[in-house]
Amino acid sequence: MTEDLDRLLMDARARIDAASRRTDLEEARVALLGRSSELTQQLRGIATLPPEQRGPVGKRLNEVRQAIEAAFAEREAEVAARELAEQLERERVDVTLPGAVVPRGGLHLLTQTRREIEDIFLGLGYEIAEGPEIELEYNNFAALNFSDDHPAKAETDTLWIAPGVLLRTHTSPVQARALRAGPPPIYVIVPGRVYRRDTPDATHSPIFHQVEGLVVDRGITLGDLKGTLAYFARSLFGADRETRFRTSFFPFTEPSVEVDVSCFLCDGAGCVVCKHSGWIEILGAGEVDQNVLAMAGLDTDEWQGFAFGMGIERIAFLKYGFPDLRMLYDNDLRFLEQFPA
Ligand code: PHE
Repeated sequence: MTEDLDRLLMDARARIDAASRRTDLEEARVALLGRSSELTQQLRGIATLPPEQRGPVGKRLNEVRQAIEAAFAEREAEVAARELAEQLERERVDVTLPGAVVPRGGLHLLTQTRREIEDIFLGLGYEIAEGPEIELEYNNFAALNFSDDHPAKAETDTLWIAPGVLLRTHTSPVQARALRAGPPPIYVIVPGRVYRRDTPDATHSPIFHQVEGLVVDRGITLGDLKGTLAYFARSLFGADRETRFRTSFFPFTEPSVEVDVSCFLCDGAGCVVCKHSGWIEILGAGEVDQNVLAMAGLDTDEWQGFAFGMGIERIAFLKYGFPDLRMLYDNDLRFLEQFPA
């Protein structure tokens, strides 16, 4: 009996030691300690032994059982540690490996320039307004005090879609919309795409972008326009820039001006960019014509305003000094990547 049990314990230990996976150990546990295992059978058999043998046999069987359980516990700890080590090895992450570079897109130079212009006016409390690119002839022209025979309306200048409907030739029709939407005070800037029947060349494009500004409030004068645009020009082109007004004409402003900024390249000394004049034209502007206010139903004794409009392409072209407007539309990354943002 004792010899049998010694052999059983030895066999059990051998089997346990041979198990190298947790699943093998589970199988061995069933075989060695389970209900139909030899040990369990023997424990059950105690009841059939003569009474004086039951104590010692039972004690011995329990010792064997404990020994087997201890062997399991020891082996399980070994196997678990090894499996964990293997798993860690398998899933090892080399934190010193250089990361994969994720190519990052950037904003197009036109978008950057538009946002730069917007931010200057947003900082002054203006709001952004927008209008449709397909516009009524009325908003694009008549509401802005254009006469019916104005040359800008001609087939050769304007892209017509249907009688009375066109692709807007400037962002100024949004002035008419903003005035009607009112009520004043109005402080808006209007970025947008505009269309003209132009042949593309280094300085023209049939599709381009403008930013319009419109202010309507009580007691607005040309001085307010001058101060606003001087601040704008310094914010965009540098603190030392001067601005000057030259008289001009637009149907929807009176008086009308063209605004020049002192050349930021030569500081007024004269260079190719300013064509040796020391000044660069950046936008058109003026006081809102009283007819325009009146057509929108505003009392011109109470309300006055100013408006201005600039081409975004032109501003980018001047500010960054590239030779051909079309570079903005070619989508050549060698060009665009020179303006990261
Ligand atoms: N709409 C004019 C243009 O396209 C610019 C402008 C806007 C002039 C507002 C005066 C006031 O040339």
